[in-house]
This record gives sequence, structure tokens and C-alpha cells, in this order.
Amino acid sequence: MHITPWEVRGEVNYDEIIKEFGVELITDDIIERLKKYTNNIHVLLRRKIFFAHREFEDWLDSFEKGIKVILYTGRGPSGYTHLGHLIPWIFTKYLQDVFKADLYFQVTDDEKFLIHPEMSMEDIENFTNDNILDIIAVGFDPERTKIFTNLNYKEIYRIAVRIARHITFSTAKATFGFTESSNIGIIFFPAMQAAPCFLYQILEGKDAHVLIPCAIDQEPYWRISRDVAPKLRFRKPAGIYSKFIPGLGANGKMSTSHPETCIFLKDSPEDVKRKIWNAFTGGQPTLKEQKEKGGNPNICVVYWYLYFYFEDDDKKVEEIYNECIIGKRICGECKELLTKKIIEFLIEHQKRREKAKDMVEKYLLKD
Ligand code: TRP
Repeated sequence: MHITPWEVRGEVNYDEIIKEFGVELITDDIIERLKKYTNNIHVLLRRKIFFAHREFEDWLDSFEKGIKVILYTGRGPSGYTHLGHLIPWIFTKYLQDVFKADLYFQVTDDEKFLIHPEMSMEDIENFTNDNILDIIAVGFDPERTKIFTNLNYKEIYRIAVRIARHITFSTAKATFGFTESSNIGIIFFPAMQAAPCFLYQILEGKDAHVLIPCAIDQEPYWRISRDVAPKLRFRKPAGIYSKFIPGLGANGKMSTSHPETCIFLKDSPEDVKRKIWNAFTGGQPTLKEQKEKGGNPNICVVYWYLYFYFEDDDKKVEEIYNECIIGKRICGECKELLTKKIIEFLIEHQKRREKAKDMVEKYLLKD
């Protein structure tokens, strides 16, 4: 297994990741503790899709002590947004609502330009503008949320150079797998992604405790941020990490380069129907065998989509699982249920996305 923010190769083994990255599991105790602040434990936490963290409990301590708590997350605009991208954002909004926290949202247009030689600056700008609408459509509190792009918000560069002075090439190489043939822009880039960890503190001149909700593959950046933080006299950021959201293909593969394996936020109901209909399931080749032997929800991406987000009812997912393995349920039923849920979800998202067009200025942080 090989994980850097730019590639995930091989089967993902989350136990190994935990060990390798030195992060901790989200425990039931943590979930219990959250009940102090909300009676609604988000489905992504209940199902442990957000499964790991670093110093999340310290961040909660800070919140209790009245220290300013901040959220930070981001998006690399190299294509249209799909469901997998949205999951951490939905969870970030939940945290923002529960803790009434300010949020900084970084769009790494520089990063995507640097790692995609086939894309022009204009391509990246188009995706940036497009993706920002999806971000706003998630419904972040406009009074507490600032979105910026690295190429258009100079303050980030000013912070990044302060960070970069403390990161050697050898550390960057070991952390991100750079080689002699990596372009020099991407070698500097980790400082750009680390910078928002200290943005509030620098803009406001005050202490704050930052929490970063993101997919686990982004963790190497926070190691760098945490190493540098004390040198710049800032608090180290905490993190809460999600698993990868599976695609619709066999083994849960999803990639923007195989559009049939992901649901884009712009997809029409017909697209959703077709993609889910063709998704990889754990079903048997014939109805007869399905009834005799039962299906295998453990490898079924349709089940996984219901599980990780789209079937909020805990009893219902359990029932689906149990009915599937004994052959009482056929794949068509799950596909239909999921199609219905995703279409409903997308219709709402697309409405909010339309409205977002008039709200961009309100959210955007510029020099
Ligand atoms: N590098 C991330 C990506 O490619 C984008 C990103 C920037 C990000 N800052 C972040 C993601 C903070 C999560 C948290 O998608």
C-alpha cells in the first residue's frame, strides 16, 4: 500500500494507515462525548466513515474552555465535483453548525495546475469557479465561512513562505514522495496547503485551535503543519479523517477519468439511474442463485452507498444487510432505493447551486 495525497495505490488497509500515520480511531467514547453538544450524531460519524482523528478531544477541550475554535478544509479543482468530494464538506458543515465555528475553505488551483500538465490555466479557473458553487451549495453559514483560492488570495503565499523556511527538501521528499523529476512548484506546494492552519491567527492576531476535517490521504500535510506550528508560535492543528468514498465500479474504484464510476453533482436523474443500474454489486448472477445463496453486501457498492450516507436509518441498513445475505432481497430493490435517495439529494443540491451563483462575493476572501 502506498499513500500520498496524489495517489492511493493498492488495497486500502485502514488499520495500517492508522499505524503508519500515527492517528487514533474515533471511539464510541468520543461519540458519547459529542452528545453533550448535540443530540444529533451525524450519520458519517455513527457509521465511522469519519473513522480517525488527531487530537480531536483536545480541540473539544479548547471549545469547552472558550478558546476560539476554527475549521479548515479544502478542494483541489481539477474536475467537476462528485459525491465523494462532497462527503467531507457535508460533515464539515455539521461541525460548523454544532460548534458555531468559523470555517476557512481553501481551493488549491495552484496545486492542480502544477500536477496536471495537460490542463491549462483557463481549465483550472473554470473548474475553480464551478466547484465554488458546489461548496456554497453545501450550505455553510455565510457569516462564518470564507472561501479563497491560492492564486487569488495573496495572504496565503505570505504565510506559506514563513512555513517553507522551516521545511527541508529532505522532509518534503520523505513525506510526499517527491523525486528529482518533480517540478519545483509542487515541492513548495505543501507550504501553501499548510498555510490556512494559521490564517485566522495571523489575520486576527489571536490564538485559535484549528480542526481539519478531510479524507485521510491529506494527513501528510498536517504533519508538516504540526512540525512548524511551534516554531511560528501557533497551536498545532487537530484533524478528523474520513475513509475514501467508493466508486461504483468493481472494488469501489472511483475516478473522474471514468465518469461512469462516479456520480457528479451535475448529473441528471437519467444519469443516476443508468450509473446505479450498472454499478458493481455483491449479487449472484441469477435470481435463483441469489435466493439460494444470498448476496454479499460486504463487496457491494450499492450497499456501501446506502451505508455510508444515503440510508440514515440505522435499523433499515441493518435490515438491508441481513435480508441480502439470506437471499431475501434482490439487487434491484437496493438499486431502486439508492437511485431514489441520490436523485432527491441531487435535485436539492442543484437548486442550492443555482442560488449560490448570487452568493459568491459574500463567501469569497480576496486581498
Ligand atoms: N489537496 C486537496 C485536494 O486535492 C485540497 C485541500 C487543500 C484540502 N486544503 C485542504 C483538503 C484541507 C482537505 C483539507 O483535494
